Amino acid sequence: MFVQRIRTANQRLYGIMKPMHFLDTQDFSKPELLEMMKMIRLLKTADKAGACPPLLEGASLGMIFEEPSTRTRVSFEVAMTKLGGHALYLKPGEIHLGVRESLSDTANVLERMVDVIEARTLKHETVVGLAKDADVPVINGLTDYNHPTQVLCDVFTMTEHLPEGKRMEDLSVVFVGDATNVCNSLAAICTQMGMRFTHVAPAKYQLTEVVRKLARTNCEVSGGSLTVTENVGEAVSDADFIYTDLWWWVGQEDEIPERRDTFMPDYQVNASLVKKAPAHCKVMHCLPASRGVEATDEVLDSPQSIIFDQAENRLHTEKGLLVWFVYPRLERASEETRRKHEETITAFFQQQS
Ligand code: CP
Repeated sequence: MFVQRIRTANQRLYGIMKPMHFLDTQDFSKPELLEMMKMIRLLKTADKAGACPPLLEGASLGMIFEEPSTRTRVSFEVAMTKLGGHALYLKPGEIHLGVRESLSDTANVLERMVDVIEARTLKHETVVGLAKDADVPVINGLTDYNHPTQVLCDVFTMTEHLPEGKRMEDLSVVFVGDATNVCNSLAAICTQMGMRFTHVAPAKYQLTEVVRKLARTNCEVSGGSLTVTENVGEAVSDADFIYTDLWWWVGQEDEIPERRDTFMPDYQVNASLVKKAPAHCKVMHCLPASRGVEATDEVLDSPQSIIFDQAENRLHTEKGLLVWFVYPRLERASEETRRKHEETITAFFQQQS
């Protein structure tokens, strides 16, 4: 029954879902993203009941990582296992990705062996290149530009923590800190969904014009809004969710003193900042966090924090995405075909003896 329900949903949706890859939430309409979230909810409910259906039995996921990961790596691997499939962790430097072999050759080889590719790449062009050449779905597991799986999970998590009487479209999401890849993706998906999105940061670290333009275009369609400001107190005064991320990443070590001086203390998510927001406001962080830097322990471990709900929802999100993109593509042999092949192979061995 559950399998039939998902099959029907996919058949119906696949017809309108043009992109076969998940590289950017911008490639999908609001109704499509909402349908993906319904799938995530179905699979989360099934999993919580100890009844995750093995919809991807026999399927394989190739997981390419050019950078380390805890959540993305573990959630994809566990998701695939729970769905009855298998995941291969291809760690940084382990395969010939653009080194000794072209990106295109890697894509063409992997598509012959796996049913889906997840890739965390240093450069956004790399994941786009893989998707261009691979004839299996490619899911973006974070690049220097965006992090679509994280923000789909984040919006799903917000819907689980809606303030009383509010709909998703009523939400005010305030991102405090550096315009990271997560910030770019959150600006995109929140404005697509019709929410009010605010980025608050010192001028040098605010969203680029390219992302602002994209978000404003989303708002024209969705009725949402985009605000970019340096005034943190004003920004959080009507926030339903305060979101923050690391102030620096691998490769930005030289900038640490300047970044710390610029963000601290005004842009740190601490108890004094959270007090300026409504009492129902929740605090989010994609993790990993530098505790005591962009956010304090007091806030991250407070009842207002939903950071571990977010982390858990990465697992349910990956299950939803894997089923969405892979399940409709799987070709299953009939019982008769399976039996015929088994008999042929058994007969081969009988002739040998
Ligand atoms: N949030 C996130 O993507 O975490 P990882 O870097 O651990 O995968």
